[in-house]
Amino acid sequence: MKSAVLSVLLFEFVLSYGLASARVEDNCDSPWTNDNHIESNVLPQSGCSVTAKQGNDVYDDLWDENTDIANQTLKTDFLQQMQSGALQAERYVNFTLQDIYYLQKVTEMLWEMKNKVKEPKDMSDFMSGRYNSYNNFLVSCLKQFHIKDPSSVTPIPAMEKYLSTYKEVMADRDPVYFAVALLPCSRLWPWLAKNLNITKTNAYYTWKESNSGGHPETHFRLILDRYLNTTEKIQNAERIFRKQMQNEHDFFNSS
Ligand SMILES: *[C@@H]1O[C@H](CO)[C@@H](O)[C@H](O)[C@H]1NC(C)=O
Ligand SMILES: *[C@@H]1O[C@H](CO)[C@@H](O)[C@H](O)[C@H]1NC(C)=O
Ligand SMILES: *[C@@H]1O[C@H](CO)[C@@H](O)[C@H](O)[C@H]1NC(C)=O
Ligand SMILES: *[C@@H]1O[C@H](CO)[C@@H](O)[C@H](O)[C@H]1NC(C)=O
Repeated sequence: MKSAVLSVLLFEFVLSYGLASARVEDNCDSPWTNDNHIESNVLPQSGCSVTAKQGNDVYDDLWDENTDIANQTLKTDFLQQMQSGALQAERYVNFTLQDIYYLQKVTEMLWEMKNKVKEPKDMSDFMSGRYNSYNNFLVSCLKQFHIKDPSSVTPIPAMEKYLSTYKEVMADRDPVYFAVALLPCSRLWPWLAKNLNITKTNAYYTWKESNSGGHPETHFRLILDRYLNTTEKIQNAERIFRKQMQNEHDFFNSS
């Protein structure tokens, strides 16, 4: 019941402000690209990976091995309709609600990870940094939509599956896998935004714009390269990364 009310309220909000002004997702877009740039050592974009250890960078390999899923995601009906500007408003509202739910749940998990991982220091800093970034974003998002408790949103099966993979990974003794699990989201959304041909007159232009930024490599590259230092760990990471890419795809495909 609660979520139905929330849905209606948000729907009205989107209709009255969002689509009219084309600023639906101005602040509430993607937690994963909304970096606070706590770390100052901004490394080159992964597209220019010539600067990385030639062909040996785990961070880049993970992505390069999964561009098939990225391509499939780009072709989902949801994103194609977004590109053409024909995406039904109700579908977009549903998607946004699920997105906020995701944001809250992942923020909660990051809170646990931040409290659990006290060393090594760089790993601990990573978890704190990601937690702060997600949490700041969650707070601003809830404020913008006047939402008290996103828990009352009912997750769709694809979202439940996605979050259950996070939970499984979280239970592992090695925290590096949680970092791996977070990465598909951070890499895929800016890639999708860049690759969708959405023009300024399209109502979803702000989605493209606000998701085009983000520098995941700043947060992830050094951590992954340092702690994924055996063949076995890399294989585990590949399995988790691909599963999370598939979960991202399935979320878009069900939206
Ligand atoms: C993904 O699509 C791009 C552009 O269409 C293409 O160059 C690339 O080969 C595709 N990759 C895979 C793995 O399908
Ligand atoms: C939005 O989500 C609700 C609940 O899952 C569903 O019943 C409804 O059909 C969805 N609307 C659209 C337009 O997808
Ligand atoms: C992008 O979309 C616009 C408008 O639909 C179209 O005119 C243009 O040719 C497209 N560009 C590319 C690269 O597909
Ligand atoms: C991998 O990294 C861990 C953590 O820094 C370290 O303890 C371990 O000795 C390294 N293993 C190898 C094979 O380099």
